[in-house]
Amino acid sequence: MINIYDNQSFEKVREAGSVASGALDEVYKIIKPGISTNKIDEICYEFLNDNNSYSAPLYYRGYPKSCCTSINHTVCHGVPSEKTLKDGDIVNVDVTAFKNGWHGDTSRMFLVGDVSVKALNLVKATYDSMMKAIEILKDGIALGDIGATIQEHVEKEGFSVVRDFCGHGVGKKFHEEPNILHYGKRGEGLKIKEGMIFTIEPMINYGKFETKVLQDGWTAVTRDKSLSAQFEHTVGIKKNGYEIFTLSKKGLDFPPNKND
Ligand code: MF3
Ligand code: CO
Ligand code: CO
Repeated sequence: MINIYDNQSFEKVREAGSVASGALDEVYKIIKPGISTNKIDEICYEFLNDNNSYSAPLYYRGYPKSCCTSINHTVCHGVPSEKTLKDGDIVNVDVTAFKNGWHGDTSRMFLVGDVSVKALNLVKATYDSMMKAIEILKDGIALGDIGATIQEHVEKEGFSVVRDFCGHGVGKKFHEEPNILHYGKRGEGLKIKEGMIFTIEPMINYGKFETKVLQDGWTAVTRDKSLSAQFEHTVGIKKNGYEIFTLSKKGLDFPPNKND
């Protein structure tokens, strides 16, 4: 069953989404070569707690941390640790706030020090593919239109769309129906409706799309060890458009390199 949410529910997700994106704005302040992913986790944990929220990932199906930190060839669900970031890394930080019974789920890429042009191109293509897909959202479009928009944009650049993970409905539950595939054919799949709330969170690989999960049971990496990038917003569908619930209040949705 796919939930259709009213204005009051939209307001709840707006509040949760704002806390999740606020946590990423805090991460932006401290991210640089030499900091550990545990430090990022601590920043997220504290920001959520300071804002009347909890981290939804913490203890979710046994997940041990408050956010996911996915570096370079890690596709998603990288687990924070004492590992430190180094100059040239690209890292996705994924935060889900649970506030007053509702969820807001978002992730961004961060550029650590000086990043290669190759990595930057992947990060930009990933962000642009997500935004292009968001821009077509309104009552009546097909799920396949979302997937096709993302797939066409990134494949044009020679990149590939991860198949093993997808976006999802979100609301009172962290993950609910429908699944949002980031590839597909225009016109195919169910038609989205006003009042739906879901995430769009494309994972795009520099090389092939295959992934594998490491021994820890969480960390997903590219099989060919190529770089991978991801962005995620939580969106609500309206009659003639959409609302993004997880925009940065500081304009940091596409974090610029601090050296710029
Ligand atoms: N936030 C991720 C998503 O976008 C899910 C993380 S689940 C976790 O759906 F357990 F790995 F944290
Ligand atoms: Co998500
Ligand atoms: Co997420």
